[in-house]
Amino acid sequence: MYDEIRKYDPQLYKAIKGEVLRQQNNLELIASENYASKAVLEALGSILTNKYAEGYPGKRYYGGCECVDIAEKLAIDRAKKLFGAEHANVQPHSGTQANIAAYLSLINPGDKVMGLNLSHGGHLSHGHPLNFSGRYFKIVTMNVSKETELLDYEEAEKLMEKERPKLIMAGASNYSRIWDWKRLKKMADNWKAFLVTDIAHYAGLIAAGVYPSPVEYADIMTTTTHKTLRGPRGGLILSKAPYARTIDRTNFPGNQGGPLMHAIAAKAVCFKEALSPAFTEYQKQVVKNARKLARELQARGYRIVAGGTDCHLMSVDLRAKDITGKDAEIALDKAGITVNKNTIPYDPQPPMVTSGIRIGTPAVTTRGLKDRDMATIASYIDDAIKHKNDDKALKGIAEQVKTLCARFPIYPGFEI
Ligand SMILES: Cc1ncc(COP(=O)(O)O)c(C=O)c1O
Repeated sequence: MYDEIRKYDPQLYKAIKGEVLRQQNNLELIASENYASKAVLEALGSILTNKYAEGYPGKRYYGGCECVDIAEKLAIDRAKKLFGAEHANVQPHSGTQANIAAYLSLINPGDKVMGLNLSHGGHLSHGHPLNFSGRYFKIVTMNVSKETELLDYEEAEKLMEKERPKLIMAGASNYSRIWDWKRLKKMADNWKAFLVTDIAHYAGLIAAGVYPSPVEYADIMTTTTHKTLRGPRGGLILSKAPYARTIDRTNFPGNQGGPLMHAIAAKAVCFKEALSPAFTEYQKQVVKNARKLARELQARGYRIVAGGTDCHLMSVDLRAKDITGKDAEIALDKAGITVNKNTIPYDPQPPMVTSGIRIGTPAVTTRGLKDRDMATIASYIDDAIKHKNDDKALKGIAEQVKTLCARFPIYPGFEI
């Protein structure tokens, strides 16, 4: 693999090779990452990257689009089938681009949006002041309850009455329990607001039927395709039929130029994979693994935010272990375990320090780890945190991690 790069650009080859080894030898527990299949990678590396295709299938601004039209139609039809949606736009370059298109399809700059507090699990594009969402819209934040750490629907309802946001942006980057989509739709209807559900994190689980789908309630659904969906890095917009025209126009020419046809082809592969029975089994295992890992960590004295998980991720409160999220991320990295520091609700620490880490099981499940391996992972995590200042011990854990990982090759038969 990568023979041309090796010959032409040894510096870059070294970086790619290093990353291949890092992905193979480490336990990837970042909740938003996964290992795309070889077929997805092939589509991404295909010559479709050479093609300009502004517009949509059958209505392009460039000639020679007959082949890429087939790819885009496949992606659209499969996405609609996968999520039971009436319309799909497969062109957003990323989840954030999909969210920009969703907002601008329904409301105008200056309008009010209600989204989940970033430090309670929300995403930057749901209203962070530095993000376009916080700069172009007035933001009202929903919170989780201090006691239950579940979304405080009653408080949100009161906020709607007081602030009258025009759009509810529901969904999260770090919320491990079930969203009550039906209740949010009722709230949106009560106060004449639109409901957008950003299912970036849950998309694979929803596609497989192991997490509730908002499809019957949301005006627009947005997602990334690279997290639990296990496809290429990219975005996707799903909606009811009446929004089709405005979404398509808002995304192009409103928000993007030419689509990334190689990425769209890879999305088509990803959706085909996600329609298979094997994908359903995979997602069931992702949730089983997350629940087992949460229980194993709890047994070792770690507090899991909201008491556990109903999906692929969990937020771990480290305060009882006398370590910050930042230091835990560093210690775990040295032990060959990749996680990200993350605020816990009502975190006393700033976002660059945090009291927690977020852990997810999509990637380790893709490489074949099962429930029984979760106890091993929990013990490695606990060991690394206990030995946070002991580089020799951390190196020893990294060796054990490497041995475990060797039993689960990320791309069997992939030579580099
Ligand atoms: C809920 C949610 N929405 C949107 C995004 C943005 O996706 P991207 O990084 O592709 O812009 C993310 C990414 O982490 C996310 O978690």
